[in-house]
Amino acid sequence: MEALDSYHMMLSLAESFSTPFVIKAIIKLGIPNILAKSDKPIHVDEMCTILQAATGQAHNSEIVRRLMQSLCRKNIFEEQPAGVFGHNSLSRWLIDGTPKSLASFFLLTTSEAGQAAWHHLHELALEVTSSSTSAFAKAHGKSIFEFAANDPVFADLWFGFLDSFGHIIINGVLEGYDGFQSVAQVLVDVGGGTGLSVSKIVQAFPHIKGVNFDLPHTIASGTQNFPGVEHIAGDMFESVPKGDAIYMQKVLHNWNDEKAKAVLKNCYNALPVGGKIIIVDHIFDPHQKAVVDQDLGMLVFTGGKQRSASEWRELLASQGFSNVNFKPLPAVKSQAVIEAFK
Ligand SMILES: C[S@@+](CC[C@H](N)C(=O)[O-])C[C@H]1O[C@@H](n2cnc3c(N)ncnc32)[C@H](O)[C@@H]1O
Repeated sequence: MEALDSYHMMLSLAESFSTPFVIKAIIKLGIPNILAKSDKPIHVDEMCTILQAATGQAHNSEIVRRLMQSLCRKNIFEEQPAGVFGHNSLSRWLIDGTPKSLASFFLLTTSEAGQAAWHHLHELALEVTSSSTSAFAKAHGKSIFEFAANDPVFADLWFGFLDSFGHIIINGVLEGYDGFQSVAQVLVDVGGGTGLSVSKIVQAFPHIKGVNFDLPHTIASGTQNFPGVEHIAGDMFESVPKGDAIYMQKVLHNWNDEKAKAVLKNCYNALPVGGKIIIVDHIFDPHQKAVVDQDLGMLVFTGGKQRSASEWRELLASQGFSNVNFKPLPAVKSQAVIEAFK
């Protein structure tokens, strides 16, 4: 590579943080939703007129055009012709308020609280003994879960993010995993968040009685009533409710091995002999960019990590689980169901 090419590549990397912030600006202005309501692409001047009518505030069409064009250059939205913008397959993920929206995820990761965590990343490398802390906890003096419990604005974004990711993942699980039919009756979703996942499982398998188990603040403010689902508040590091099977979606990757083992021990104690644990999580592969990025995300936000298949086997075996099976979920890349038995 020519010296100047690598120089420009590094310059562009230094500025690559800007894209999520331009996306945040566009979401805050409400543009993805305005474009979604129109049956045709809209000129930026008309867009500003609609925005003014909706908010009572004049918008600068030159600035809006520059923001939109910068995203079009990254293949997010389409410009056709100059100044006329419409959705494409990437920008549709930014429409707020739909089950599959990624808007709350962008707002969460670009929030001041979320961004502050990254400034402390290097401090984790200075802890030479194994630690369960995260860059987020270094920045705020508390875990992301405790932070969400005390900050209603952050909590709103957090629950929005859980719901949108939850929709996509649980649909992929229901499509790619056939092990729910054999659950005798009670399925406990440990760290179930809003309860959406277990509610979809119960909808698809009505013989199952769903339990959504999460921290008290999540149960108090993040859940809604779902038929066939009981919400139970508690701390999975103390105990988990008894059930015929346990479901855990994107929970164990939030924790280091020591903490993950403590949760698994409580899950083991809550199951009957022969009962199964159904884990949905990533399988780490150093060649897959998405899962390597996710691994870094865990380090920054929760102090956890993504695990390879052999690490999952070892972790589960350490707490007495056997017959570990991996069922890849093609619809949610790099994630799998990891099933194991007591
Ligand atoms: C990444 S979220 C996953 C939520 C849900 N399973 C999903 O896939 O949407 C992790 C969940 O673990 C919960 N959690 C964290 N610490 C917990 C604890 N000590 N006891 C119970 N739940 C906990 C959080 O409140 C959060 O809902």
